[in-house]
Amino acid sequence: QIDLPLSTKKVIITAGGTKERIDPVRFITNDSSGKMGYSLAKSASLLGADVTLISTTSNLPLPVNVTRVIVESSQEMEQAVLERFATSDIVIMAAAVSDYRPIQEAKEKIKKTESLLTLELEKTTDILATLGKMKDHQLLIGFAAETTNLAEYAKGKLAKKKADMIVANDVSKSNAGFNSDTNEVTIFTNDQEPIHVSVRSKDLIADEILQVALSKIKK
Ligand code: PMT
Repeated sequence: QIDLPLSTKKVIITAGGTKERIDPVRFITNDSSGKMGYSLAKSASLLGADVTLISTTSNLPLPVNVTRVIVESSQEMEQAVLERFATSDIVIMAAAVSDYRPIQEAKEKIKKTESLLTLELEKTTDILATLGKMKDHQLLIGFAAETTNLAEYAKGKLAKKKADMIVANDVSKSNAGFNSDTNEVTIFTNDQEPIHVSVRSKDLIADEILQVALSKIKK
């Protein structure tokens, strides 16, 4: 008998960098490849979960038994997550969601006429913080991508966004964070000492994150 500890659980995972349109051919984005999110989807699926991966476009192979929803902007990602939140048990926000977007998306391609072009940006909705306010039974897991003061900022995000876990990665390191095949993380929770997971493949990092998540939902 194989033990599948997440066989009754619905898990939502976000992956990739959102794209915020400037005009029909230009956008603002970031270096997220989606690898961390896809590894989490694979691990959760292998533990028996019903996994929905809400991802920006990616050439990464879709893990078996994972349902994928492709989104582009932070707004589309927010909508896709909110539609499924009530019936989910675990939500893992591994995506790098843009913090700002152009106030207006130009309908036509912007022409090269001015010597100085100013782009006005507005804040996007913080999806994780929104979920933090809404959650009842869900286990809410966020990430913190930092270049300095990792612990301080991660603890701040845990409290401010009302998450149950924050997985902090130092994205200034070449073998961690954006686009690399490996990661190194520290997992912050509300009732435990921080758990450090040394450099290893994103698949193995994902396994560790899900083991901590499992220990939280068993309680
Ligand atoms: O995709 P890879 O190339 O594998 O890289 C992995 C990763 C570095 C992208 C990943 O490990 C990671 O750190 N993801 C979170 C990136 C990020 O946006 O971090 P943040 O510290 O800015 O945001 C904190 C948390 O709030 C994150 O869970 C983020 O998904 C969430 N957020 C942020 C902004 C926003 N508007 N809405 C959100 O929900």
